[in-house]
Amino acid sequence: ALKSSYVTKAQKESQRSYTSVQPQASYKVAILGASGGIGQPLALLVKMSPLVSALNLYDIANVNGVAADLSHCNTPSQVTAFTGASELANCLKDVNVVVIPAGVPRKPGMTRDDLFNINANIVKTLVEAVADNCPDAFIHIISNPVNSTVPIAAEVLKKKGVYDPKKLFGVTTLDVVRANTFVAQKKNLKLIDVDVPVIGGHAGITILPLLSKTKPSVSFTDEEVEKLTVRIQNAGTEVVEAKAGAGSATLSMAYAAARFVESSLRALDGDSDVYECSYIQSDVTELPFFASRIKLGKNGVEAVISSELEGLTEYEQKALEALKPELKASIEKGVAFVQKES
Ligand code: NAD
Ligand code: LMR
Repeated sequence: ALKSSYVTKAQKESQRSYTSVQPQASYKVAILGASGGIGQPLALLVKMSPLVSALNLYDIANVNGVAADLSHCNTPSQVTAFTGASELANCLKDVNVVVIPAGVPRKPGMTRDDLFNINANIVKTLVEAVADNCPDAFIHIISNPVNSTVPIAAEVLKKKGVYDPKKLFGVTTLDVVRANTFVAQKKNLKLIDVDVPVIGGHAGITILPLLSKTKPSVSFTDEEVEKLTVRIQNAGTEVVEAKAGAGSATLSMAYAAARFVESSLRALDGDSDVYECSYIQSDVTELPFFASRIKLGKNGVEAVISSELEGLTEYEQKALEALKPELKASIEKGVAFVQKES
């Protein structure tokens, strides 16, 4: 009785809400780059998921502490640390979803493409290990420049003979999260209701929010469209500048990546109503990779919702044509990076 008097009602409530996270499925998730700015909060959010039974954390540094810390949370998944190249294969065995936020972030004044030289090699090496150890997994690429790192991953998987375009995803969820937030703020809408599809790629003008397709239906003046579009395109830079040399978006990115992981797990678990925007191999335009809304299923991309690209406004149509040369060049740069080595 004495002991229970130390436990306040609020503590009991919070205890109940966390421990009531009963295992509802047993998927294995690996995060590569797990001790970084994105990796740590992402690992925490994935640890909260009742769909996860094993959470494998890999990094080249500091991952033991992150895993020890996280493993004390009384949610179902078992957390395991893997450090250094020799432990990468074990980290990936039998994994269903691999998330890759490994790599360097931008500093003020840099473009995402300025990260290519370092991050291209990191993504290539990690995806080679994914190909060797869990070729059937959904692969979520976060490392920038996403417009090039996804084509790099595709080429690596092709070389290994295990490429399934339905299971390789560039994570563009943060663009959607931002678009939803900014539109809800501007139009005084309930955040939970707003849904803006974002297409194209994940850098500057290649990020194209389709404001005309916002749900619920909203009308914007031309000036609002211009301002919102530019803000969504520059939102990453907004954070890079605010952090003033300490990196780029990590918390909002972890939130967005956790949403994409949860959607993937729900799809794997048989939910037939899972839609997200993602940068994938695609034939909705003449470009080989393109972000648009997709339906997720047990085998990955089940359908591409190409109808959303019909009936665009003149502004959106022009922006779509304008983004293609830059996106095409970034795709070709990624493909060439892997092909030059053969
Ligand atoms: P960070 O520097 O804080 O963390 C990166 C982590 O990767 C570090 O822990 C580092 O040790 C690890 N790492 C480096 N090389 C590795 C390797 N070979 N194997 C495993 N781990 C390795 O950076 P961050 O802020 O977490 O950002 C990571 C990446 O995500 C950057 O490239 C950034 O541009 C990108 N990013 C993408 C989006 C998006 O919307 N797709 C959003 C934000 C950031
Ligand atoms: C973002 O959109 O926040 C990320 O791509 C990181 C960056 O460099 O802006």
